[in-house]
Amino acid sequence: MEKTLVLLKPSTIQRALIGEIISRFEKKGLRISGMKMMQLDDAILEQHYSHLLNKPFFPSLKASMKKTPVIAMCLEGVDAIAVVRYITGYTNGRKADAGTIRGDYCMSNQQNIVHASDSPEAAEAELKRFFKQEEIYDLGDLNMDRLYSVDEA
Ligand code: TYD
Repeated sequence: MEKTLVLLKPSTIQRALIGEIISRFEKKGLRISGMKMMQLDDAILEQHYSHLLNKPFFPSLKASMKKTPVIAMCLEGVDAIAVVRYITGYTNGRKADAGTIRGDYCMSNQQNIVHASDSPEAAEAELKRFFKQEEIYDLGDLNMDRLYSVDEA
């Protein structure tokens, strides 16, 4: 089963959408095996967004990510990385499909509610960046018989 990193960005916290966004992931059937609130600093943001360091929007992206603490989550499920990206939607909320989190909850390319790992390599590196090993819990077979067929799980 795959694990992936989701960050509820300051736009979620500022707009009092924490419960609603967590609920979208829970209702989908993703299991939450780690969750914590944390204030990000320049060092972690420069690492996390290293592919964007030279972009003109990087300073405003960094500032927006420090506005409030974020909520980091480890979500798990079969094909969790792709599923979470799919339900998160396109980066720019104005262009994201209705029914996706960004499509339903934001109007922005930057204040876009959540971050989600975009590949298995990114998920592994990002989970290590945001969580200590002991902060990710083993949920055993919790709910597995309801979420998946025996062939899928
Ligand atoms: P990116 O990794 O391209 O997108 P995604 O979050 O969908 O994986 O970009 C990371 C974040 O950078 C994005 O969520 C918001 C911010 N960003 C901007 O502020 N302006 C932009 O034009 C782009 C492309 C991204």
